[in-house]
Amino acid sequence: MSAKVRIATLQEMKREGKKIVMVTAYDYPTGRLADEAGVDAVLVGDSLGNTVLGYDDTIPVTLDQMIYHCAAVARGAKRALRVADMPFMTYKGDRNEALRNAGRLIQKGHCEAVKLEGGHEVAGTVHSLVQAGIPVMGHIGLTPQSIHALSGYRVQGRGNQAAEHIVESACELERAGCFAVVVELVPGELGRRVAKALHIPAIGIGAGAQCDGQVLVLTDLLGISFGPPPRFVKEFGQVGRAIREAVETYSREVREGAYPAPEHEFDTE
Ligand code: KIV
Repeated sequence: MSAKVRIATLQEMKREGKKIVMVTAYDYPTGRLADEAGVDAVLVGDSLGNTVLGYDDTIPVTLDQMIYHCAAVARGAKRALRVADMPFMTYKGDRNEALRNAGRLIQKGHCEAVKLEGGHEVAGTVHSLVQAGIPVMGHIGLTPQSIHALSGYRVQGRGNQAAEHIVESACELERAGCFAVVVELVPGELGRRVAKALHIPAIGIGAGAQCDGQVLVLTDLLGISFGPPPRFVKEFGQVGRAIREAVETYSREVREGAYPAPEHEFDTE
């Protein structure tokens, strides 16, 4: 096993111009397989609402669900840096409550950092968490927890004013103490501008090739999605199809009496 990835590792990678690889993970096998594949960071994303719990969006995901999934990922992913999403409405109200909630993700979920969505409006909370010793990753651009306010999943930061606002938000998060920022669904040129403006890593998803690293939702890259994937996604596998075919073959063999075969049976002695 190569060296444990820490926050300092990601920051050093930015300085050295090495691309950072992050992927979501939701349980023990996905955490372990991503770790064994050598990713730098695993994100226990609240995208688990859509990808493993079957909700329409991330909004119903609770802190207890996040803790449960984080702890499972932590049992599998030892080397990669483990980052946990703070779910909807667990950090935008009272700062002390945000502190308690982030503390539970670290202490009970065994994650090493938290991620929260937003710019200026969360900068004070980021500062408090960082002061308390909790590393924070920011998330700007398309912020899925604000999906209703944003009127759907659409590209953010188009036009000078909107682009400027995103660059300013990124800089404010850096000043507040974030160690990295996710930039989601913005024009490639804006992804490049954010990465250039920051000393900390800008990790893109649908934000072009010039970010300091990339994050993808694991089920998207594996091809386990139940609808057309977003345009920025590349399916690196057809795992959904492989699962369906394997279960179909198993079903057929059981029905035909071909499975279990003699080699799968136990003798009396
Ligand atoms: O929840 C998640 O998976 C995320 C990624 C889209 C960055 O926040």
